[in-house]
Amino acid sequence: MHLTRVRTAAAAQLLALLVCVAASAQPTAGDGWTVPNRQAPAPISRQEHAQRRAKLAEAMGNGVLVALGNDEPDADYLSFAQNSPFRYLTGVTEPGAALVVDKRSGTPRELLFVLPRDPSREVWEGARMGEQGASALTGIPARSRETLKAALDSMLTGGTTLYMVSPLSSDGSRSEWQRPDQQFAARMAAAHPGTRVEWLDRELFRIRAVKSPAELDLLRRSIYITLLAHREAMRAVEPGMNEFEIRALIEGTFRRYGADGPSFGTITGSGPNSTTLHYRAADRYMQPGETLVMDIGASYRGYAADVTRTVPVSGRFSPEQRSVYEIVLAAQKAAEAEARPGASFRAMGQTAQRVVAEGLARLGLIESSTASYDCVGRGGGMGKCPQSALFYLHGLGHGIGLDVHDPDQAYFGAFQVGSAFTIEPGVYVRGDAVAYLPDTPGNRALRTRLAPVVARYRDIGVRIEDDYFITPTGVERVTEGAPREIAEIEALMAQPSDWNRTRRPEVVEWYRGTTPR
Ligand code: GLY
Ligand code: MN
Ligand code: MN
Repeated sequence: MHLTRVRTAAAAQLLALLVCVAASAQPTAGDGWTVPNRQAPAPISRQEHAQRRAKLAEAMGNGVLVALGNDEPDADYLSFAQNSPFRYLTGVTEPGAALVVDKRSGTPRELLFVLPRDPSREVWEGARMGEQGASALTGIPARSRETLKAALDSMLTGGTTLYMVSPLSSDGSRSEWQRPDQQFAARMAAAHPGTRVEWLDRELFRIRAVKSPAELDLLRRSIYITLLAHREAMRAVEPGMNEFEIRALIEGTFRRYGADGPSFGTITGSGPNSTTLHYRAADRYMQPGETLVMDIGASYRGYAADVTRTVPVSGRFSPEQRSVYEIVLAAQKAAEAEARPGASFRAMGQTAQRVVAEGLARLGLIESSTASYDCVGRGGGMGKCPQSALFYLHGLGHGIGLDVHDPDQAYFGAFQVGSAFTIEPGVYVRGDAVAYLPDTPGNRALRTRLAPVVARYRDIGVRIEDDYFITPTGVERVTEGAPREIAEIEALMAQPSDWNRTRRPEVVEWYRGTTPR
């Protein structure tokens, strides 16, 4: 007799229970680690966006504020990405929008300008919100973008101040001729004599430096997705694989678990590439005995994670790799131990720098933890630089948020609740670390002494980067789910990988013969 016909009430209940359990199961990397938060985070609410704008309007004087959203990319069909200041203020992720806050009379009045509905374009590019949709999303009265110029012409009269926020992220460095916002401001000022332009970037950075609970929830999700990718990658890495395979696995895992994609160019650098801080080419076959730096981050609803793990390609750290790794880990832990409300990022950076320098001196990679070498100073003349900077040449970390390098409260004073940031010391032994020192007697002697030690550790690059939230009593390391202790990494790397099981060796072989290493 057919099983379904005799299903009893009890069996039906059991089945319902099983279905229930299956539906509530969280994605795991298949290695026993379960993502800690089960609830999908809520998007940033309309009210929160309104509060952000109110804070910025409070920080400006009387005048007119314009924030420009990004336009469609010039090249056909590249992905559109909204700039973070505009997204932060409005939540609008469509191209071609602009926010105006008219505060000439002291009371802010907001207006949003968006691309109008246009079926002949929407058939190509997808639905637009139009004015109605934009108002419904944001609560701001919305008009067609085509009317922006006329609206500003009527506002910028009699010496009105034009306030602008730049569409760049906090460390953006595009030159002026590539800055449509600056060109826009200059055109407006030229067309309306007496208009003074003031940039509110610093004020907006201060506001963005304090993350709300809703933002932390979104960051947490992007971080957990990133940890899933790290765990998958650790199990897959093995000699003979190309860096691009690991990058594909990582970015595929991001999308698989609902991320928008990577929050910055994924870094999978092996061997000599592990010593290039922002290596992005990802086209080299990994060899036994090398380190692999995986500096990766998912973006979830625009919020950026940024987590680095360094692993041995062979699955076991060599004695040299181990000794460098232990220095970096000790430096990270020392800085981390100081993180709490009121702590200074600069002081934590000095702590990490001291631990790295002491470790490098123990290995003989520098002469002593306080030793210096002759370097070109700021004014162009010769000065002294710490020898440790030959191998640890970047800052301790940075805020995270809508941008991978987001502002943090510690930039303006000290860490406080609402700070979300990275701690990411590193040591990078480039084969030419001492080859290009300025040619002075002191440097020549130093080069002779250090060259054999550099040769011993050459091509070992190690960075360890975790993400943290300041809590009322201390700090939470949100990235605990990705192993960082040597024994834990080696244990996870020893586990089998589904990714490798389904590889197509004949295609990998074909590719190997036709590309540069
Ligand atoms: N992934 C870029 C950084 O670590 O700052
Ligand atoms: Mn970082
Ligand atoms: Mn990073």
